[in-house]
Parts: sequence; C-alpha cells; structure tokens
Amino acid sequence: MPWPPASLVTAATPTELPIRQIPGSYGLPLVGPMWDRLDYFWFQKPEKFFRKRMEKYKSSVFRTNVPPSFPFFGNVNPNVIAVLDVKSFSHLFDTDLVDKKDVLVGDFVPSVAFTGNIRVAVYQDITDPQHSKIKEYIMDILKRSSGIWVSELVRNLDIMWEKIEASMSKSSSVSYLFTLQQFLFSFFSKVLAGADPSSDPKMEESGYAMIDRWLALQLLPTVSIGILQPLEEILLHSFAYPFFLVSEDYKNLYNFIKQQGKETINRGEIGFGLSEEEAIHNLLFVLGFNAFGGFSIFLPSLIEAIGSNGALQEQLKKEAREKGGTRLSLESVKEMELIQSMVYETLRMNPPVPLQYGRARKDFRLSSHECAFEVKKGELLCGFQKLVMRDSLIFDDPEQFKPDRFTNEKGAHLLNYLFWSNGPQTGTPTVSNKQCAGKDLVTLTAALFLAHLFRRYDSINADASSFTSLQKPTFT
Ligand code: HEM
Repeated sequence: MPWPPASLVTAATPTELPIRQIPGSYGLPLVGPMWDRLDYFWFQKPEKFFRKRMEKYKSSVFRTNVPPSFPFFGNVNPNVIAVLDVKSFSHLFDTDLVDKKDVLVGDFVPSVAFTGNIRVAVYQDITDPQHSKIKEYIMDILKRSSGIWVSELVRNLDIMWEKIEASMSKSSSVSYLFTLQQFLFSFFSKVLAGADPSSDPKMEESGYAMIDRWLALQLLPTVSIGILQPLEEILLHSFAYPFFLVSEDYKNLYNFIKQQGKETINRGEIGFGLSEEEAIHNLLFVLGFNAFGGFSIFLPSLIEAIGSNGALQEQLKKEAREKGGTRLSLESVKEMELIQSMVYETLRMNPPVPLQYGRARKDFRLSSHECAFEVKKGELLCGFQKLVMRDSLIFDDPEQFKPDRFTNEKGAHLLNYLFWSNGPQTGTPTVSNKQCAGKDLVTLTAALFLAHLFRRYDSINADASSFTSLQKPTFT
C-alpha cells in the first residue's frame, strides 16, 4: 500500500474524528494582535511563531493573529485559524469550502493602484468571471511559449554565468542576486510577454530593480527583511506605503510591456475578451509578482541547498551529463530523476510562497489528522507551508533535507502531498481552481537550471547570495 494511505489525508472523514473546539485566542482587542505581531516579526519569527503555538495548544489547528495590525491597519482583521498539517491545509484547495477573493497575502490587500486600478486575477476567486478568462489567457501564453522556453532559458543563463564569471575573475566572493534577477527579468519578459529588455537600455539595466521596488512596497507590511528592530516595526510594519513612491517605475514597466508585448496583449483582447488594460496589468503582475518574485526566492534556496555539498554535486553532475541527450529540453530533463527530486525537496523545505489563505464560504467541519473543528462562514484560514511540509505522518525524517526523497515509486506518491503551488504537485491548474498556472514549468525550469549548471561547471561553492567558486571542466 502506498504511504501515506489516502484515508489519512482526505478530508472525507471528519465525522469519525472527535470534535474539538478550536484552541487559541485572539487576545484583547489591539493588544492581542500587537503582541502576536511582535512575536511574528521580532521575538520569534514566523517559523517559531507557528511552531510554539502548535506545541502550546497541542494542535495543528488553532486561532491566532497574523500581521499586519495596529496602529494604521484599522481595516485589516488579523484573526486567522492556522492550519498546519497536510490534512487541514488541504481544505484550502477545496473551492466549495473556501473563497480566495482578496486573500493572496491575508486580510490585508495592497492598494489596486499598484496594479493599474484593476484587481488582477491572482486576487480573484474562481466565482469571478474575469478569473477564468485571465487564467485561460495566462495558461495559453505558457503553452505558446513552450517552444522557445528552453532556448531562451539557456541563452539567458549563458549571459548570466558569463557576467558572474567575469566578476569572479576580480573577486573571490561574488554576490549574484542582482545578476540572477537581471536574468529572470530578461527571460520572463521574453517568454511571457514577447518583450526584449536588451532592445531597451533602461529596462536591460534596471527593469529588475523597478520590479523589486514595486514588489517591496506592496509586501512590506507582511514580511520581515531583517533590519534592526524596533526600526523595522516602526518604519516598515506599521503602515502601508503609498503607490506614488513607485509610480514612475510602474509606468516604465507598463510602457515597456505595452510597446514590446503588442502581440501578446492583442491575443488577450481578441482571444480572451480582455480589455487592453486588463491584459497589460495582469501580464505585468504574473511576470513581476508570480514569475520574477517566485524565482527570486526559489533559485537562491536551490543554489544554497547544493552550494557546499560536494558529494551531492557529483551525483547531480553525473545525472546532468549522462542523461537527457546532448541538448537540454523540457522532455529530456524529465529523465533526470535526482535533479527533479532535488527541486521538489527544496520546494518542500523552503516553499517560496510560505503562507496561503482562504475564507470559509460557509460553516463547515475542518479536520486535522486527529480532530474535527467547526469553522464559521467568513473565518480566514491561514496555512504556513514550512510546517505543513514537515508533517511527520506524511514525510519520514521531515526536518531532514533528503535530495532523493521524491525518487522511485514511494517518492512519486509523495508528490500528492507537495503543496508549494497551492495544490498538490500531482494536481492540474485549471480555471476552476486556484493552483499556480506555472506549476509544471516552474519545476521543469528549476530542473533545467540545475542541469545546465552541472553541464557547465564541475563544481561550485555558494550560499543563498554569493559564489566563492565556479569550477569549469578542465580538458587535457
Ligand atoms: C517559483 C516560482 C513560483 C511560485 C513559488 C509560485 C507559487 C504560486 C502560489 C503559491 C500561488 C497561489 C497563491 C494563492 O492563491 O494563495 C500561485 C498562483 C499563481 N501563479 Fe504561481 N508561482 C510561481 C511561478 C509562476 C509562474 C512562472 C507563473 C506563470 C507564468 C505563475 C502563475 C500563477 C498564476 C496565474 C497564479 C494565480 C492562479 C489563479 O488565480 O487561479 N506562477 N503561484
């Protein structure tokens, strides 16, 4: 029988489980949310924040507050029900039970000014007719671009590695984050919008930095960037920053996509009934927030996971060079079992989008592995994937990074419980669900990144932000 058995994780058995009142409390008005906020950002940090409460309540489901809160977020309700095991978290994928309108980053919703005064599809629920039109449009873009995906990836990666090598010839330690982001911006502009930053010097030079600033202003109230406390609490987590601070950046990005992405925008208008504005702002959001933002977090964690592990690098190199033929392709990389497993394990240990939310559409009974709980219509569920993906009933040695965890038959079965994309890795993104439209291309692209790396270099030494060595093959 495959492990874990389906009965352990299907939400279909709540009536057989003992019913328990959801433990935890929201505390006194203002004080409770403020205290939780300080724990979350300062005294504990997110992982410890959720772990401590899970231990305290002896439950993977409990009530707590998540930021932002007090003083200048009066319209944000910080109360959530945390769901921290694989079974309770899975309710977030059930579109009958949860509404995904305006909950991308919790109850806090960045101003629509950041997206051209349009509420883009990623913030829409599946019941919104615009959601299916736009998701279909994005999935069509991905399908059409699959023909150039690998050649553009390899071309842009070669440019990136040459830049990093040039810096390494001058210094023993090279920070790679901005070069990586320049690569991501060029690659995704081309494959998603058909736009080419190399024909626009301003975009080529600093398009990535414009997106960074635009992203930062939207997300600052909800993330920690590790500057000295209490400065971070006072300056970054107490109020939302206004759009006008990045309006010039957004205008530049908008004009770039409008001018260079004409064909893609046209298809959105003619093929999917979108207005020009809807097509451009949604395209820009998927490019900047989902693709660029997601990979800016994911690739450094992938590099870090292999960065100083010589034995693992040897195995990955062997597979990258022996399998998949002479040319990398979306098909050939599928033969690289260890490389793919490595990608999945990195997503399990470090899911790039760690928090997912969903609002109860109706009263319903939610189950964890041990108990069932009554959830009321309108309550907000909050899953912190970093803990969910360490559910010991599903994953052996859950705290251990095991590069080959997802190999062979057992590993393939475990993909049912890998949730980084807001759905299982074995699931399919459709217009009727909220699973990441880029799900399959994201993992294949990361696998191609690794395969390309180990075809180019014998070994590397790196962490999440810099390289200290890139060893090219020596031919005698
Ligand atoms: C490492 C990269 C990526 C990660 C970690 C990631 C993760 C996610 C997650 C967690 C969601 C669900 C958010 C929620 O509703 O709670 C999502 C949604 C989405 N993602 Fe991705 N994503 C990545 C890259 C991409 C790429 C490359 C594309 C497409 C080009 C893409 C397109 C989308 C779209 C359109 C949605 C909204 C789906 C819907 O509204 O139904 N993502 N992504």
